[in-house]
Formats: sequence, structure tokens, C-alpha cells
Amino acid sequence: MNNEVIIETRDLGKDYFDGENLIQALRCASMKVHKGEMVAIMGPSGSGKSTLLYILGLLQPPTGGEYLFRGQNILEFSREEQARFRNRQLGFVFQTCDLLPNSTVYENLELPLIYAEADHHNRRRKILGALDRVGLSHRVDHWANRLSGGERQRAAIARALVNNPSLILGDEPTGQLDQRNTEIVVEQLRDIATQGYTVVLVTHEEEIGQACDRVVRIRDGMIVSNGVEEVNGADSRAFAQGPSSSVAR
Ligand SMILES: Nc1ncnc2c1ncn2[C@@H]1O[C@H](COP(=O)(O)OP(=O)(O)O)[C@@H](O)[C@H]1O
Ligand SMILES: [Mg+2]
Repeated sequence: MNNEVIIETRDLGKDYFDGENLIQALRCASMKVHKGEMVAIMGPSGSGKSTLLYILGLLQPPTGGEYLFRGQNILEFSREEQARFRNRQLGFVFQTCDLLPNSTVYENLELPLIYAEADHHNRRRKILGALDRVGLSHRVDHWANRLSGGERQRAAIARALVNNPSLILGDEPTGQLDQRNTEIVVEQLRDIATQGYTVVLVTHEEEIGQACDRVVRIRDGMIVSNGVEEVNGADSRAFAQGPSSSVAR
């Protein structure tokens, strides 16, 4: 079993002040995610799932706590370092597809590579590689707005993968998809985790949670279960086989 810890958070908190009330969106959230794991964050609406995911994605800062990425305290990075880190190490897939509609699939996938200063030849190779991973090579020159809903979300996954990130973050990535396309997208995220990528996604669908290695449950801003069982006092992951065996799936 691969035991490299990619993410470790300690007592992360996030307070919002809406002008009248203090909203404790996240309280004392401590979790670990290992390389190659596919982890679901589940909980009722308004429980703090997106807040946690956005903090993990460096899209917003926490009010308190620590966040280590491969042991590095990335909250201490400057804004520029964080932007660079997001571009190189993180891939995002959101509920509503945010591809540029009037650009081709190729152009959409090229943007993060241009930002990462990859040269033209490498860009092409990486784009074709990422599209191949999600079975969308034949759509490379299509306009994004001509893709079906399922294809769009797969293109978004390919875009998330194109810089070969350490961590893929998804906020309800199948929220707008029908059952069939949901299955395809979940299966692809599963494959990606099997290839050694680490995937953390927010979902409210139990079926998707079941397809993951582990479910982190959150309620009223607090993690109530990490999907980890205490066995003989030792921290043992609840799923019997561990992520490495998912290769056999
Ligand atoms: N920008 C914000 N300003 C004020 N309150 C917010 C903001 N974002 C989220 N909240 C509140 O924080 C809580 C958690 O929100 P969120 O993380 O979006 O929950 P979830 O994704 O589980 O539905 C909710 O009560 C929500 O209303
Ligand atoms: Mg949300």
C-alpha cells in the first residue's frame, strides 16, 4: 500500500461574517489523504463541503489551522507561489462545466499549459495524452459548446489532468449529469486514482461515495467521520484492501 501522505490538515477552520452573524462554516477539520486514494467528502447541504474543498484547492484561505501538502506548509506561500502551485499541482473539476464555449477542446486544454510555460511540442503531446485518458481523443478539434454534457465534463477532467497534477479536486463533478454519464465520469476518476493520481471530491450521492476508497463525512462544519476505523488503537483505513489494490478492479 502506498502510504505517502499528500494532504494533511490540522484543525482547519473557516468563519464567515455576513454583516450580522458569524458563520462557522468549518471547525477543527483534520484529515489526511494518501497518494492514489479516491476520497469523497459527503454531508448535508450547507455543511461546509465546498468550503473545505476550496481551502484544499487554495481558492480561499482558512481562518485558522494548518494545511500541509506533501509536508509543506503551503498556506505560507506567497500569492504568486500559491498560483503557481495551483497550476502545477492541482486539477479542478466543478459541477458546471467552465470550459470556454467558443474555443476548441484543444484550446481549452492548452490554457493551463501556456500558463505553465510548456513549449508548443510538449503542449500537444500532453493535450493528446490527457484526452486519450478520458477517451476523448476524437473530439480534440471540436468546439467545446458542441460537446454533449458528459463529453464536456470528461474534457474538464482532461483539462484538470493536463499538467500532471498531484491532486484532482472535484466539487459535485457529476451534479449536472444523468445516471449514465455519472457512471462514466466516476469510472474515469476511479481509473485516474488507480494510475496514482489522488482524487478528492465533494458529492451528495451515496453511490459515488461507495465508488470511492473512503468517505469523509461532514456535518455542521465538523468532520464526523474520516472513513477510518480505530483498530487496536492504531489508525487503520476502513477499506480493507487500500487504494493500491484498486488496480485489480
Ligand atoms: N462567502 C460566504 N459568505 C457567508 N457565508 C458563506 C459563504 N460561503 C459559504 N457560506 C456558509 O457556510 C456554510 C457552508 O457552506 P458550503 O461550504 O458552501 O456548504 P456545502 O458545500 O456543504 O453545501 C453555509 O452555511 C453557507 O451558507
Ligand atoms: Mg457545496
